[in-house]
Amino acid sequence: MRNQLEEIRKSALENIKSADVLQDIETLRVKCLGKKGQLTSILKQMGKLSPEERPVIGQLANEIRAKIEQAIEEKTKEIKAHEQEKKLLAEKIDVTLPGKTVKMGSRHPLTVVLDDIKEIFVGMGFDIVDGPEVELDYYNFEALNIPKDHPARDTQDTFYITDNILLRTQTSPVQIRVMEQQKPPIRIISPGRVYRSDAVDATHSPVFHQIEGLVVDKGITFADLKGTLETFVKRLYGEDTVVRFRPHHFPFTEPSAELDVQCFNCHGEGCRLCKGEGWIEILGCGMVHPDVLRNGGIDPEEYSGFALGYGLERVCMRRYDIDDLRLFFENDVRFLKQFD
Ligand code: DAH
Repeated sequence: MRNQLEEIRKSALENIKSADVLQDIETLRVKCLGKKGQLTSILKQMGKLSPEERPVIGQLANEIRAKIEQAIEEKTKEIKAHEQEKKLLAEKIDVTLPGKTVKMGSRHPLTVVLDDIKEIFVGMGFDIVDGPEVELDYYNFEALNIPKDHPARDTQDTFYITDNILLRTQTSPVQIRVMEQQKPPIRIISPGRVYRSDAVDATHSPVFHQIEGLVVDKGITFADLKGTLETFVKRLYGEDTVVRFRPHHFPFTEPSAELDVQCFNCHGEGCRLCKGEGWIEILGCGMVHPDVLRNGGIDPEEYSGFALGYGLERVCMRRYDIDDLRLFFENDVRFLKQFD
């Protein structure tokens, strides 16, 4: 029995020594010390021994168990340390390597122009307000003097959610919403997306942007409209810009006008840019119609106002000489990064 024990000690310690993964150590532990292990099965036969031999063998067996346990513990530590070292080595990073650079984006050209426009109006004391893109027929048409049978609806066909809810065709409904919520003096601009069921081509898109302007106060006259818009246009295009007001018609303003600037390319001679006209149409404007003031809850006997509506894409195309509207919405980075 003593020989058997010595044999177990020898082979176990050798195997432990040569093991190099934790799993092997565990297998060895079960094989030697486990319930059905070699050492246990020897101890079960102790009964066969003489009373003198029993304590001697018992002590030897305990000694061997302790030795093997110690060897297992040491080897386990060694393997763990080794694995840790391997892991650290594998995860080592070279902090001197150049980092990945974060690519800086740039403002969309429409945003660049809109930011300029906002800055000019804010400088003149205007607030910037938002309005819903999903709008009621009432605000988009009815309250702006465009009843169901009005021909102006033909040029502003849109996407209907129900008979009475639609995607707004213009930013003008914001005029009514602001007047309903705010007493004069009112001085706001409201930029945003508008929708029309137009087919896409180089100058049309079912989604585009407008900027609405509204001023309401006591004693506002056409002179205020002219002064404000001339100041705005000169700040945007340069002090030497020549403007003209041309009579026009909009259902929600009376009188109405369109503002043109003299073509900065040919100075009125007529060229490709202005299509031979010498003038470029910039925006629609006019004195707010008394019915529209009334629809906004404002007494036209006491107050008057002017409004303007402005197409952002057109201004932006002219500024950067962009000849296709679709470029704004295709999000090709090669196009977008040229402007800011
Ligand atoms: N809403 C008009 C359109 O989409 C533009 C417009 C013209 C707005 C004159 C105005 C205005 O506020 O006074 O064609």
